Amino acid sequence: MKTYLKTITLLAFIFALSSCGGNKQEPTQERAETPSDLMAEAPIYDATKIDPNALIQTVQLKAVGNTMADIHYDDTMLVVKAGTTIKLSLENLSTDPTMLHNFTLVEEGTAEKVAMEGVKAGPDKDYIPAMREVLVATKMLKPKESVEITFPAPAAGMYDFICTYPGHAVRMRGKFRVEGGV
Ligand code: CU
Repeated sequence: MKTYLKTITLLAFIFALSSCGGNKQEPTQERAETPSDLMAEAPIYDATKIDPNALIQTVQLKAVGNTMADIHYDDTMLVVKAGTTIKLSLENLSTDPTMLHNFTLVEEGTAEKVAMEGVKAGPDKDYIPAMREVLVATKMLKPKESVEITFPAPAAGMYDFICTYPGHAVRMRGKFRVEGGV
């Protein structure tokens, strides 16, 4: 009887050891396949993380036009260098009091999605939705107002910028290219 129990205990021990060893690889494999883990591995852009030693690049942008048919930015291809700090100024040159504009920098290809979510965010949020696709944005400017924002250049690559005021992103949009290597 004692021997029998010993054997059972030994077998259970071996089983525990082998199953423990067998499970060792699994967490790693599962992590790589879980989308949330993949997202966690991607660097998240932080607009407030400014390197005090970085070179400063100024970007001046103007919003113009007084009807839904002629509103636009005066520049639709902004180019900056990676690793720099961007000082971007936006001036609203529209004169019609209903023409409110902002500058919202978004991940490439997400302009429509962000604009749609911006409408839902509403005027209290300046039509700027809180979502990962939005890197940085200015406040909504009334005609003749201007603003300057400072943010670190995102990783090298292509981005889009839009005005998130309802209906404006159709015409108020441009490309924001970050060139690698400074
Ligand atoms: Cu606008």
